[in-house]
Amino acid sequence: VEIRPYRETDVPAVLALWREVFPNAPAHNVPSDDIRRKLRVQRELFLVAVEGDALVGVAMAGYDGHRGGVYYLAVDPQRRRQGIGSALMRHAETAMAELGCPKVNIMVRTSNADVLPFYERLGYEGQDIITVGKRLE
Ligand SMILES: CC(C)(COP(=O)(O)OP(=O)(O)OC[C@H]1O[C@@H](n2cnc3c(N)ncnc32)[C@H](O)[C@@H]1OP(=O)(O)O)[C@@H](O)C(=O)NCCC(=O)NCCS
Repeated sequence: VEIRPYRETDVPAVLALWREVFPNAPAHNVPSDDIRRKLRVQRELFLVAVEGDALVGVAMAGYDGHRGGVYYLAVDPQRRRQGIGSALMRHAETAMAELGCPKVNIMVRTSNADVLPFYERLGYEGQDIITVGKRLE
């Protein structure tokens, strides 16, 4: 499995994987819009995991000058527990560290708390933070 930056030709496979992995995503999350926006900023932090012609994972990372974040992390359900998610996270961390990013924060939906052991294995710890959000469009 190779981890590399996203290419335009990956779009159908990325959208299909996200549809499969995040079937209950809120309506305002429009993956194709997110991809279009991401290609304008730090596109090298938009990563895919590929094996031959098959796309098996994806992660969209970003660094804002203070913290880094990773969104839309998804591994093909048939290919889980083989280290692909960890490899994507480590590549994202390395790429952000190279930009000078000192820390990464990950937002996990409370409905998705089952994923927490995955992040803990990678050294992430729960924090005493409440996330607040506001839509700008
Ligand atoms: C989370 C996700 C990306 C992990 O990908 P993965 O390739 O299966 O992860 P890895 O194989 O690198 O897992 C590394 C370790 O994390 C832990 N882990 C991974 N998935 C786990 C799970 N579902 N439950 C408990 N521990 C888990 C295990 O300790 C695992 O090591 P092990 O297999 O030797 O026991 C994948 O399960 C996924 O796509 N989930 C749905 C989307 C999602 O929730 N994304 C995160 C949004 S915040």
